[in-house]
Amino acid sequence: MIQKNPQVSIILPTYNESKNIIDILKLIDKNIPKGILTETIVIDDNSPDGTGKIVEDYVSSIKKIAENTVDVIHRKAKNGLSSAILNGIQNAKGETIVVMDSDFSHPPQIIPKMIEAFKQYQCDLVVASRYITGGSIRGWTTKRKLMSKIATIIAKKGLGVKTKDPMSGFFAFKKNIIKELNFDALGYKFLLEILVKTKGINIKEIPYTFENRKFGSSKLDTGTVIDYFKSVWKLYINEKIKTTNEKRGSVRFLSKAGRFFSVGASGFLVNYIVTMLLTSGLSELWYLHANIFGILASISTNFILNKVWTFEDRDFSRKKILSQYGKFGLFSSLGALIQLGMVFWLVDSYDIAYPLALISAITSAAFSNFVLNKKLTFKEKLWN
Ligand code: GDD
Ligand code: MN
Repeated sequence: MIQKNPQVSIILPTYNESKNIIDILKLIDKNIPKGILTETIVIDDNSPDGTGKIVEDYVSSIKKIAENTVDVIHRKAKNGLSSAILNGIQNAKGETIVVMDSDFSHPPQIIPKMIEAFKQYQCDLVVASRYITGGSIRGWTTKRKLMSKIATIIAKKGLGVKTKDPMSGFFAFKKNIIKELNFDALGYKFLLEILVKTKGINIKEIPYTFENRKFGSSKLDTGTVIDYFKSVWKLYINEKIKTTNEKRGSVRFLSKAGRFFSVGASGFLVNYIVTMLLTSGLSELWYLHANIFGILASISTNFILNKVWTFEDRDFSRKKILSQYGKFGLFSSLGALIQLGMVFWLVDSYDIAYPLALISAITSAAFSNFVLNKKLTFKEKLWN
């Protein structure tokens, strides 16, 4: 039988789930909507109770008859839930990924609703949620409920997460939203990392009832709680660094633009003084010739000041200076043309008062000059 690529990959991490795994695999299979091809990937961490082997045998028993495939990834040792999920995702072929537990806490009956939600709400991430109307938890101790609540509050207040159940282990997403992300995959909180690291994706929460497991025991221990604090801290610091860098980027841009315009103003002065000196007692040149020298002088002082002050360029090799000076001169002439054109156009076709037209024309020319020189003469990123 030629196997078509699955549309949906279901990620199922296991550690000591021998009493649950086969039944959950069967129940998942029963709940897959008609017309949708899935693969289920079990990620087992060498469970001492033989879960890995049990899945292996089950996979060979259904291989020839099943339309939807089941695979198992064997890892050497217990490496944590998030890292198991990440491992599964890296091996997934589906465009849509569903992540769930294998201990019946996450009812497979919700899977069709999740898949439907992508279409219905045009979203990229669906979170099965205990903390919205219609959702609930059954079978947890008060202590465990409290822990979950506290963890949720930390995520919402500390990391600015809006989702009502960011601690959910039951969620589905379009694989392309995590294409460019690097995961720490610490502890249990894979969803939280997605929520913090993706920007501007559409999220839909749908309610479900979390049922505490009947067989086996939870693997959440003190280490998991410590990992939680570590991962929140890491996410918090990373976000801080990112936003301050962005801020610094905009401050740098503005301060360079400011320097560039001050240099421009100083050039105006140089231009004026040189032209006046040359037409007065000193040489008595014809005023237009004198102005050409004035312009050349101001382009030169502008160039030098912008090189060393505005763009802090310390490369003084002759070749570099000549090519930069050439470009700078070219863009200055271009700026002059833009300025002349704009003044003419604003005054002539829009009847805008001459001073106003002049100011807008000078500003536009200066700005386009700044951008061109930043990018092309001094080879900086426009926004860094
Ligand atoms: N491969 C692998 N490696 N699987 C693991 C590991 C591991 O180190 N640790 C846990 N698992 C598997 C379990 O076998 C189970 O299928 C699933 O991950 C969840 O583990 P549980 O130990 O049952 O977690 P829980 O019930 O305490 O917590 C659940 O509810 C939380 C909601 O507050 C999980 O769904 C959490 O992700 C969720 O945040
Ligand atoms: Mn569980």
